[in-house]
Amino acid sequence: MCGIVGYIGYEQAAPFLLGGLEKLEYRGYDSAGICLNDGEKLVVKKSKGKLEELKKLTNNGNDIIGTVGIGHTRWATHGEPSDVNAHPHLSDSCRFAVVHNGIIENYLQLKDMLTAKGVKFRSMTDTEVIAQLIEYYYKGDLVDTVIKVLSKLDGSYALGVISIEDPDEIIAVRKESPLIIGLGENENYIASDVPAILSKTRSIYRLENNEIAILRRDGVKIINTDKDEVTKQVETINWDIDAAEKGGYEHFMFKEIMEQPKAIRDTITPRIKNGRIVLDEIKLTAEQVKSFNKINILACGSAYHVGVVAKYIFEKVLRKPVETDLASEFRYRDPIVDEHTLTIVISQSGETADTKEAMKEAQRRGSHVISIVNVVGSAIASESDDVIYTWAGPEIAVATTKAYSTQLAVIYLMAIYFGDMLGTITPDEYRNYVSELESVPDKITKILEEEEHVQYLASKLFNSRDVFFIGRNIDYALSLEGSLKLKEISYIHSEAYAAGELKHGTISLIEKGTLVIALATHEELIGKIVSNIKEVQARGANVLCLACENHQELKDVAQSTIFIPHSCDMMLPSLAVIPLQLFAYYVASLKGCDIDKPRNLAKSVTVE
Ligand code: G6P
Repeated sequence: MCGIVGYIGYEQAAPFLLGGLEKLEYRGYDSAGICLNDGEKLVVKKSKGKLEELKKLTNNGNDIIGTVGIGHTRWATHGEPSDVNAHPHLSDSCRFAVVHNGIIENYLQLKDMLTAKGVKFRSMTDTEVIAQLIEYYYKGDLVDTVIKVLSKLDGSYALGVISIEDPDEIIAVRKESPLIIGLGENENYIASDVPAILSKTRSIYRLENNEIAILRRDGVKIINTDKDEVTKQVETINWDIDAAEKGGYEHFMFKEIMEQPKAIRDTITPRIKNGRIVLDEIKLTAEQVKSFNKINILACGSAYHVGVVAKYIFEKVLRKPVETDLASEFRYRDPIVDEHTLTIVISQSGETADTKEAMKEAQRRGSHVISIVNVVGSAIASESDDVIYTWAGPEIAVATTKAYSTQLAVIYLMAIYFGDMLGTITPDEYRNYVSELESVPDKITKILEEEEHVQYLASKLFNSRDVFFIGRNIDYALSLEGSLKLKEISYIHSEAYAAGELKHGTISLIEKGTLVIALATHEELIGKIVSNIKEVQARGANVLCLACENHQELKDVAQSTIFIPHSCDMMLPSLAVIPLQLFAYYVASLKGCDIDKPRNLAKSVTVE
């Protein structure tokens, strides 16, 4: 949420800033702005709405000159989306400009204090207090001033600061919100994420909490709040810019759906050696694993849905009780978690505020935390006890697909690895699971080759007003994700129901023509789900059934069917989710929705 870019060099900054912001659009935003030092003053241009508005306003950046600048895409928290609330924010006398990602929790006290001293505020934002505080405390040294201001702030922030007083530097700092520094030749950059600077450099520093970067044209110095210099490793980005571009596809989401076989292969292959699962990342001994009496899974959104699938899998394979919790609920409910609980935290971005705080809560209570994270070096990855990275590559579309799939793949790896450790699976089962897992990418490729059938069904069904997803057991866990995918990008009302719950309420909503998507991959309960299909059909429902190819008889039961290859129960969600993603994608496309950037949603929810 919110995107930051900054440039200091010898070239005109505005085109780079606009291009960088474009690469950060996936984070979600409702307004955008840039600020440049034109040699005499700080010039700010900002606009509510899409970046196109800002581009028009600045003639694609050509109307605003300067070789030092900062830019921002804002996702409103304090104050409505508007030109005036958009960043960058200037201090009262316009000598200092700030872009900010995060939330300043004590901004009202700070604002009152400054207002009492006669400072005039222009916006409703929490961010503006930072610009005003800098001006208030400035005594000739911007770095000293920023350090002083930081000591006054409670909350989370990634900040970029420029000033007319120190025109040849950008100060950048982070606490809880992500910020990277790009290293170039006679120019340097700041950004919330790598794609923003990849056209310029592959060498970056990832700022840690409370590190302050001082960027000049000829170099970058990192210090801590005591002004001690910090020596950091330069990280080289090894994925290609294409990975952050659409590569010929109309939407990132479609490209990312298509990338899933590779993403899963990249995630599992390095961890299977001679038929054995090797998870060196987990530092727990077998004794420790045996000593856990409960597994606690924490996540938000689709990552939470992975956690719901994991509950079914872990309980079956590991025979340990599993509780999967929404991070936002867990952190405020005085949970029963202690050193005998293993906590697994799942997050694509590694920056989701609720997930991060829930993780810390579990750690405070003595629980060992293993995180499953996609973004290397992100907060959750750094602060968990062990981290297993999903090698999905950058995921740009707001609606997750390949991250979800790679998270599932890690769950399978963990189930087999721990199952072996605990002795709850036999050597035969172990071999069978590993070989099934290795076959998942090819089976997904096969499903993707048949995407036209899903496109055809979407063309028949995209006018549905309400859609109900039903399933039992692991199919219920999957229906949560199928329903979320559809509603988040197509804006069609949809709900997921455990099929056995239908009779307790939802069936009253079924009327002639209501679309019900019945997931029937779970072998043991096919008979039960067929009964549920008949029940909704008797009330007029139009049923689309998703099943394994060995159940062709379902063609005679449902009005439409999608078949997927067979696999072991545990891994079927990885196959079954693919048609559901494609269905949501094609429905949204037929409805003309903004697929990669659905309204009101953000890729990375870094505020509560
Ligand atoms: C947002 C995204 C979802 C994602 C969720 C959790 O809502 O749109 O796709 O599942 O955040 O994000 P995380 O980065 O923690 O997986």
